[in-house]
Amino acid sequence: MDDRMIIRGGRPLRGSITAQGAKNAALPVMASALLLQGRRLILERVPDLQDIHTMADLLRHLGAQISFEGGRMTIDVPEELKWETPANLVRKMRASSLVLGPLVARCKEAVLPLPGGCAIGSRPIDLHLKGLTRMGASIDLEQGSVRARTDGLSATRIALDFPSVGATENLLMTAALTPGESVIENAAREPEISNLAQALRAMGAYVEGDGTGTVVIRGAKELESATVRIIPDRIEASTYLLAGLMTRGEVTVNGINPEHLGALLSKLDEAGVAVEASPDSVCLSSPGRDWGGVTLTTSPYPGFPTDVQPQIMAALCMADGTSVIHESVFDSRYVHVEEFRRMGCKIDIQGNTVVVIGVPKLTGAEVRASDLRAGAALILMGLAAEGETSVCGLNHVWRGYERLMEKMESLGADMEFVPGSEREE
Ligand code: UD1
Repeated sequence: MDDRMIIRGGRPLRGSITAQGAKNAALPVMASALLLQGRRLILERVPDLQDIHTMADLLRHLGAQISFEGGRMTIDVPEELKWETPANLVRKMRASSLVLGPLVARCKEAVLPLPGGCAIGSRPIDLHLKGLTRMGASIDLEQGSVRARTDGLSATRIALDFPSVGATENLLMTAALTPGESVIENAAREPEISNLAQALRAMGAYVEGDGTGTVVIRGAKELESATVRIIPDRIEASTYLLAGLMTRGEVTVNGINPEHLGALLSKLDEAGVAVEASPDSVCLSSPGRDWGGVTLTTSPYPGFPTDVQPQIMAALCMADGTSVIHESVFDSRYVHVEEFRRMGCKIDIQGNTVVVIGVPKLTGAEVRASDLRAGAALILMGLAAEGETSVCGLNHVWRGYERLMEKMESLGADMEFVPGSEREE
């Protein structure tokens, strides 16, 4: 039997929490340490999460020494690095592919088993590989692994077919250690890209245009030791704000940049939810009546984030009206719908579009998380539902939410962790 979270729902969540550092910013910044040689990278506000430990283990395997305490991570990079990555770590997490560019730039060679990660549709890395090829790497696929090699990379202009977050990050890091001027066009504009650009600037590379579709990088021959602060986690913040709304309470998230939540906040405003923002916090309160249905399409930043799609769907299941959600970033990111239906939701799937008909109440059930954000959404459903909900598949949730139960309980949630039978032995 799996570990389970038992949630006794129906209690309004009230109060404030502080956002964790962004997982999706910390992971690429950690990978960028591999660009250093005999130098140190210090990261501040790193969340203590499973994915962060997986990336730390991967960097250690390659030769880095890492200490991590109280949100501060110190990565010491030796003169010589290994460049073959182990399948057991890489398959745990798709973001492992972020070490490919830095290793090719630093070691002229890298081997990466094809990565794993959340089960949300097919997630190739062809754009990463195409970009590295443009920069002068030769790529071979051998027995389920990518082998990248070069005699020397050259700065160039790369136009991405799609503004992939990971491909933009991989190429940005590679270009930072490739002398000359590289340009990435149709680059992803996510705030996490700007956090990485900030890290690379602190190491001595020239990066301009991050946060726009055209990023210009003038690489250096060698990069320097640096200290970087990780930005707040906009996906975690969105999840807690929706928990307050769905339980008809009022949650404030502090220590965030409300601009990073722009697409979510404007949709909620459209639905009739009271949104209050200060320069570094957001408070959502339920309107005292049901919120309305909305139509939304997920898309790259600054569009509506795909990583909040399951959570907003959970809130829209309780709306007074019908909503239409179109998922344009990933295929098959609706695995959670079957579980939602067990809790009384009315949802119809047509390809990558779902129609959600709001219902007056949700009821507790036994459900399973299929991926990280689906797991977060099921927890929100459990908090809002009448009766008891049991969520398993929690290993996905721990990949992205630091001290989730402690934070939810501080807002008044009634939840309990029941260890699986392996732990009881
Ligand atoms: C990152 C986030 C993830 C988020 C996603 C989209 C991290 C660690 N993860 O993932 O949480 O859901 O952005 O906001 O930051 N694609 C290709 N070929 C490629 C690369 C991507 O076809 O070479 C496709 C993917 O299959 C997917 C879409 O592009 O359909 C978006 O992927 P991408 O932006 O690369 O997401 P990730 O960097 O994997």
